[in-house]
Amino acid sequence: MGSAELQGALWSAGARDWSQFIEPTQVPFYEAAFDAIGVGPGVRLLDAGCGSGLALVMAKDRGALPTGLDAAVGLLEVARERLPDADLRQGDLEEMPFDDDLFDAVTAFNSVQFAADATQALREMRRVAAPGAPITVTTWGPPELCEMAPVLGSLGALLPLPPAGVGGPFALSAPGAVESLMTSAGLSPEDVIDVATPFVFPSLDLAVRVMLSTGPGKRAVDVVGEPAALDALAGAFSPHVRDDGTLSLDNVFRVRVARA
Ligand SMILES: C[S@@+](CC[C@H](N)C(=O)[O-])C[C@H]1O[C@@H](n2cnc3c(N)ncnc32)[C@H](O)[C@@H]1O
Repeated sequence: MGSAELQGALWSAGARDWSQFIEPTQVPFYEAAFDAIGVGPGVRLLDAGCGSGLALVMAKDRGALPTGLDAAVGLLEVARERLPDADLRQGDLEEMPFDDDLFDAVTAFNSVQFAADATQALREMRRVAAPGAPITVTTWGPPELCEMAPVLGSLGALLPLPPAGVGGPFALSAPGAVESLMTSAGLSPEDVIDVATPFVFPSLDLAVRVMLSTGPGKRAVDVVGEPAALDALAGAFSPHVRDDGTLSLDNVFRVRVARA
């Protein structure tokens, strides 16, 4: 296993909060990617790093045939409740348990940057895709366009050193970083689509709590304890609290489209 064991444990702990509160904010980039590559009736789609499976539910609603892979058993449990008939496997992005040339389209939403060897993850996406099939890799855009960047940074600041094999949320957000890895992995980059993806929370308390459901949140709790992690998050979120107590943070996610 590459980074799946470590990442699977980090992302499993808060699976229900992730699927209820954070995953729905990502619908804009799921739609943008599926529109860009024509996910529709009969398309055999693999979502690599599918988490709790909302993107696959949306693909199924378009008539596609959904398959998912993720490291986190906790998130897969939610995905299996939503898609009892789909092939949803626990495994590693860097060593996928699928035959060559199997899928008509492959997506990775906000997952590849957490792999220890992202180029290997992209090679695997290419291997399991049919020749010429479309592939999308979506990550956070440049941090200066993401109001969530300082929030995630407040967790990062609590941690002494990134342990080996832990990629961070913004690890592949520099302009051209994903495209260059795609080329190294034998993919042909085509388009880049920026998608406005605001993160909206009903209250400061909830915003702070649900961030502990993320991999970086869980890691911060493991290292410095929950009270320190909650304090850091409250400080980072508080400038965004509006008069009615809700929060909305603007972000850009970047969808890169390539061909296998
Ligand atoms: C930010 S979450 C995104 C989940 C989902 N794509 C979504 O849009 O909600 C990152 C996901 O990548 C998965 N992940 C990270 N590293 C992985 C690896 N090496 N192999 C498989 N999955 C991995 C985590 O388990 C987690 O589900």
